[in-house]
Amino acid sequence: MADLTTTLGPLTLPNPVLTASGCAAAGRELHQFFDVARLGAVVTKSIMTRPRSGRATPRMAETPSGMLNSIGLQGPGIDSFLEHDLAWLAEHGARTVVSIAGGHTDEYVELARRLRGHPAVSMIEVNISCPNVESRGQVFACDAIASSRVIGAVRRAADPGQPVFAKLSPDVTDITLIARACADAGADGLSLINTLLGMAIDTDTMRPVLGGVTGGLSGPAIRPVAVRCVWQVRQALPHLPILGMGGIRSGLDALQFILAGASAVSVGTAVFGDPLAPVRVLAELDAELDARGFGSLADAVGFAHRDVAALV
Ligand SMILES: Cc1cc2nc3c(=O)[nH]c(=O)nc-3n(C[C@H](O)[C@H](O)[C@H](O)COP(=O)(O)O)c2cc1C
Repeated sequence: MADLTTTLGPLTLPNPVLTASGCAAAGRELHQFFDVARLGAVVTKSIMTRPRSGRATPRMAETPSGMLNSIGLQGPGIDSFLEHDLAWLAEHGARTVVSIAGGHTDEYVELARRLRGHPAVSMIEVNISCPNVESRGQVFACDAIASSRVIGAVRRAADPGQPVFAKLSPDVTDITLIARACADAGADGLSLINTLLGMAIDTDTMRPVLGGVTGGLSGPAIRPVAVRCVWQVRQALPHLPILGMGGIRSGLDALQFILAGASAVSVGTAVFGDPLAPVRVLAELDAELDARGFGSLADAVGFAHRDVAALV
């Protein structure tokens, strides 16, 4: 059995498999199937300052090898989150990565301040795939300057003991430019990737399938895009820790991300079909590391980059 301990910047985790934001709420539902404290950490649904009801229905559509969602950032708001969700996670001994989202830099800052001093918060993941209200709705993560402003402001406002990871969108021409801007602004690491913007048309009604018209594509269909993003960012910024995700359903899928340069992975869409997916992926990853003679997960991180000059 390989040593599965991993680090995400200053944070040490007993193993590298986490949930993905928005796919396991705040852990309660998954806890019916397995003890969520067994995971590296639970990543919570992106929380905003105030309660929100999300976007119009229908909000989900199946696609070949994936799904589209336009949930919007439905959630209870930070007050209720702290009182009910974070308290529940702490009670159950789960390490928690709190995902935060906003429409203004000030909202992200307020959220980071509210999380200060909470021992149950292991890390903050900043979901910057949100429309920037001050910039005609342009998604923060699609603009290096807007990304760096939010991440810099969150890093300054957050508890110095809580690592801040920026979660990037793949819907950009060069993800390494955004990655570098976030790193320069003080990000302790990056979460790669959020969903890809997609759309489906119902050919009976001849209208968009989703109430929100467009939605985020996730699941195995996006895995090669996600692995490519992890690879490119690892090459550009070899010392910046990466939490990888996108279509992971098995230990072998997770291993691709680790070999590309991720120090840990999140399992998202897979839990809708198989609630045990995160713990199964963990066991399978362990076996695959053993089968390849890795004594520790750390030895496998970025292993595919060795002798890379020979590959290009
Ligand atoms: C239903 C659904 C809701 C999501 N909600 C969020 C969210 O609130 N915040 C966020 O950063 N990402 C959210 N995501 C994106 C996932 O965290 C993840 O980055 C993406 O789905 C790729 O991983 P996967 O293919 O394993 O699902 C959501 C994804 C899905 C499918």
